[in-house]
Amino acid sequence: MKKMLILNGSPHSNGDTSYIISKLKEKINDKVEIVELNAYKSNIKPCFDCRYCCKNEGCSIDDDMKIIWKDDYEILVIASPVYMYNVTPPLFSIITRLNMRWCNKHFLNKEYSSVTKKGILILTGSGYGKPDNAIDSANRAFEFLNAEFNINDTYIYSLNTDTIPAKNDKNIKVLIDKAVKSLNLMN
Ligand SMILES: Cc1cc2nc3c(=O)[nH]c(=O)nc-3n(C[C@H](O)[C@H](O)[C@H](O)COP(=O)(O)O)c2cc1C
Repeated sequence: MKKMLILNGSPHSNGDTSYIISKLKEKINDKVEIVELNAYKSNIKPCFDCRYCCKNEGCSIDDDMKIIWKDDYEILVIASPVYMYNVTPPLFSIITRLNMRWCNKHFLNKEYSSVTKKGILILTGSGYGKPDNAIDSANRAFEFLNAEFNINDTYIYSLNTDTIPAKNDKNIKVLIDKAVKSLNLMN
């Protein structure tokens, strides 16, 4: 059975982002093992540029980032409400920690033979600010974790939540079905 890691950047367990995550889970939970990490609840600190990874393999901070580094999942879901055009701050903190991979490669020539993954991006927004920077941040995370992300196949969004909350957004089902189909879970 394939494993899916969900990085949930929403502070609300009953909000728009969590609703979409619950619908995605509902669709696949008998086919995939699911682990979910909430950025607001998890013990993951932001990178503070200590430069450990410029001289040593890995990271100086010992926290729940281990779950991400474990690299035992084939599907990576990045889910977030848009805050100031970007992902939420705690999720962005998690993404900053991925810089270790870049430093290890650049300074130590250390390559990580990461499991090839499929990336899914879930974004919600009220409609008062573009999601472009959030997409860029997610793309960076997918790149650093070796996840292939195709915005035409695995991007699930509800970006007008002030008018249409995600739970009333009819397009969500269509986007989830398309994303799940592209995961080829039968293989
Ligand atoms: C601090 C803050 C900044 C926000 N910035 C944006 C934004 O730039 N663009 C946007 O469309 N919505 C923005 N929103 C609205 C949320 O993204 C939106 O309400 C979302 O549906 C909340 O999802 P949740 O219920 O999963 O928390 C912002 C909300 C907050 C609290």
